[in-house]
Amino acid sequence: MALSMRSTVYILNKVLVVGVLLSYVASVDKSNFKTCDQSGFCKRQRAYKPDQSPYVALLDSVQIEPTKMKVQLLNTQNQVRLLLEVIGLERNMARVKINELNPIKPRYEIPVGDVLIGDPKQDKIEISHKDGGSISLAFQSNKIVLQSKPFRIDFVASEHPVVSLNANGLLKFEHLRLKTVTQEEKKEGDEKQEGENQEGQGAEERPEGQEQAAEEEKEPEAKEPEEPDMWEESFKGHSDSKPNGPTSVGIDISFPGFEQVYGIPEHADSLALRSTKDMDPYRLYNLDVFEYELDSPAALYGAVPVMLAHNEKQTVGVFWQNPSEAWIDISHNLADKSVLSKVVDFVKGGDQIPQVDTHWFFESGIVDIFIMLGPGPADVFKQYAALTGTTPLPPMFALAYHQSRWNYNDEEDVSNVDANFDKHDIPYDVIWLDIEHTDGKRYFTWDKSKFPNPEEMVRNISAKGRKMVTIVDPHIKKDDHYKIYKECRDLGHFIKNKDGNDYDGWCWPGSSSWPDFTKPAIRQYWASKFAVEEYEGSTLDLHTWNDMNEPSVFNGPEITMHKDAKHDGGWEHRDVHNIYGMFVHQATVEGMVARTGGLLRPFVLSRAFFAGSQRWGAVWTGDNTGEWGHLKVSMPMILSLSITGITFSGADVGGFFKNPDSELLTRWYQAAAYQPFFRAHAHLDTRRREPWLLPEENMKVIRQAIRERYALLPYWYTLFYKAEKDGGPVMRPLWVEFPSEKGLFKEEETFMIGDALMVRPVTAAGTQGVNVFFPGGTEQYWYDTDTTERVFGGAAHYVKTPLDKIPTFQRGGSIIPKKERIRRASNLGRHDPYTLVVALDRKGSARGDLYIDDYHTFHYRKGDFIYREFIFKDKVLENKNGNPGSTFTTPSWLEKVIIMGLSTSPSAVTISSPKSASTSLGFTYDSVKMILTIRKPAVNIAEDWTISIQ
Ligand code: NOJ
Repeated sequence: MALSMRSTVYILNKVLVVGVLLSYVASVDKSNFKTCDQSGFCKRQRAYKPDQSPYVALLDSVQIEPTKMKVQLLNTQNQVRLLLEVIGLERNMARVKINELNPIKPRYEIPVGDVLIGDPKQDKIEISHKDGGSISLAFQSNKIVLQSKPFRIDFVASEHPVVSLNANGLLKFEHLRLKTVTQEEKKEGDEKQEGENQEGQGAEERPEGQEQAAEEEKEPEAKEPEEPDMWEESFKGHSDSKPNGPTSVGIDISFPGFEQVYGIPEHADSLALRSTKDMDPYRLYNLDVFEYELDSPAALYGAVPVMLAHNEKQTVGVFWQNPSEAWIDISHNLADKSVLSKVVDFVKGGDQIPQVDTHWFFESGIVDIFIMLGPGPADVFKQYAALTGTTPLPPMFALAYHQSRWNYNDEEDVSNVDANFDKHDIPYDVIWLDIEHTDGKRYFTWDKSKFPNPEEMVRNISAKGRKMVTIVDPHIKKDDHYKIYKECRDLGHFIKNKDGNDYDGWCWPGSSSWPDFTKPAIRQYWASKFAVEEYEGSTLDLHTWNDMNEPSVFNGPEITMHKDAKHDGGWEHRDVHNIYGMFVHQATVEGMVARTGGLLRPFVLSRAFFAGSQRWGAVWTGDNTGEWGHLKVSMPMILSLSITGITFSGADVGGFFKNPDSELLTRWYQAAAYQPFFRAHAHLDTRRREPWLLPEENMKVIRQAIRERYALLPYWYTLFYKAEKDGGPVMRPLWVEFPSEKGLFKEEETFMIGDALMVRPVTAAGTQGVNVFFPGGTEQYWYDTDTTERVFGGAAHYVKTPLDKIPTFQRGGSIIPKKERIRRASNLGRHDPYTLVVALDRKGSARGDLYIDDYHTFHYRKGDFIYREFIFKDKVLENKNGNPGSTFTTPSWLEKVIIMGLSTSPSAVTISSPKSASTSLGFTYDSVKMILTIRKPAVNIAEDWTISIQ
């Protein structure tokens, strides 16, 4: 495939600067990224396998406070003391912090408010038992058992040991130390410094008042062997100066009683995490990986250090709050019952107990682990949401279909693409402009030759009820004539390199610097740039896309920033790497909110993310490839994000790289129509692939898939509203809905949207049919949403999948609200009527709900919304008010009710309400399909009424 001139320039940039081989067909050049063996701390931590943990909890140092226990831990090998804090938290949670007792300088901790939405509410803990070797703490209905020698902690929930820390003795806390200077080095240094009265680097950086602590530290200082890579490390010609030496922290976390663990995105891998015995650990380090590999534990663009463990009876989770690079080993084993029986009695029974052992290590920071004790999946989601927040309800357009590519070339191109959607009767809500729209990759500017009238262009789009998104990346072109660059430079807003000068690296614009988003004042500065009067050509209908915010640095180590670069407060980039991208996202969102005085909900997409990113909106899975495997992996990738709080995510439809054939592209649209964030996007060098460029048959199928998305928008919107309330995922693994069905624990091809819709997209070429397992046991009914055919749960059924078929099934017992009149954009259908699809369960009942607001403001936070609860029971459909205080109204009425699974033909259907007497309604009944269709009840959707079937 021939490359265009422009892309050749970019590609050459990358090739020249990074040495990355950017051939169009090549896959990831793994040599750009470290293996564990090439990372000093990973190697040291992974190799650490003491016969017995050298750490002892000094029980005579115990201090007990109402909600907290403090104990010193002694490393019996090097005599360094740590401070362990065990804190009881409300809602079945606990927090375990381990830091040095007397560090020679502080270690990085994320300020409260940045990831944690506040200080987590503490709850009472009490000592329930203490002897010479252990202490038991009771909190809520749980127990924590701390054993002294060797040190370990077990968490017991509902009488089951569920989480153990240091059960395998792998706690390894690399304490801060001063570099021991060899005689030779000393001589060299003395010669260099000749006469200069200069302090060493470690001492120089020590905050005031810590000198003494350092002195005290000196006495028991370890005579530990110096290992390579402790004080300096290099990778592919990049050297990392490591002025603080080794600083990593690691511990093992075991899950007794569990066979599966999930989470720790982002990896292009399975939903149920694999054993890493024969491969590298799963890595968390935000990276820009070109053509990433599938089935791999390698790091990608985002990092959420949250893991869930699930079995038939319980779900638990752990969240390690630490934004430095991390690696996590996983192995599936059996629990050591002799040890666990000291913790709870019943463990003495006969059967083997499975156990997943995990081993986590971070490059710097502290041990700060939140233990979420469930007991069910929804409880863990709520617990994690109480810590890090939820996804705010997106504006409706954000849940609709987005059309993007790198790039829509000019205003004419934009206008043609827009017009073609109308011509082909395909709804879409948002058109995106990638980096080429700017003046030489200077963000917040326009290429005036291609986009001479940006404001008019945006207004033309928004006149049709649509929106536009432009890209705003965090690398700032070094150009004295570029306002943002000048301001950031003059205000000292850029991240510094190790020598204290503005950090300088290569990205799209060439030589660039990066604002230090870790500093609140710099986030505010950035936010102010989104004001309509600041961002020339913008309107309130222009929204934002943050890309390359890992950050991607083409000529940096592993294509990212040097770890010894310096942030506000003297912290190294190493300490904050994984949270940087989230701060970019946050600052952008805050700017978008501020530009409307807090009135309108913004939409911002980010590539990099961290725990808590859900509070800022959507993410996507980056530069995937137009291959079937990438379509398939998008499901487990999005599911992993979903269960770790990142509710709003998606994958580039069609794949970013390469040219998908018509079948793949069609199947991709069908799958993505059922994923939270639904956007087509493609690389600059791919062939154009807007739906109408495909053969007619494919175009029609794609149109149908997009229309089905639009029809279901009321359901999606209601789910996102609920997700903001309770933190639960919108797209869910089956085990979340059917937690006791062991056979589902590894299922990742079939998933749920909310609790009512099951989807099994086609992800392989030429698929004539798929076997779908229907969960819920034989009591559970399912209805094919196309044919309305009823299927019984508890078995697999073969479902034929001609090209126009997306296997989707409505769960018996549910009611789904839809809008069947398809408009050009979601906003145009705001007042359109609703259809309710009632799927009866075995008892002839169903329930569902519907959330309605103005689609785009924050007024819903003040209660300006409608919440209706629909209950079908004993042949009566009741519409109840779920938000009685609200004065919000809608002109939308009820157009149709479809009842699936009604076994007897009605003689009459009537509607009544407190306002009006009972009237008859027209209906049709299909006795073969057992479908009742009630036409035109013509009653307002937001009023109390009942429809009765005689
Ligand atoms: C990388 C992003 O992942 C991709 O989506 C985008 O098109 C390019 N950068 C150019 O901005």
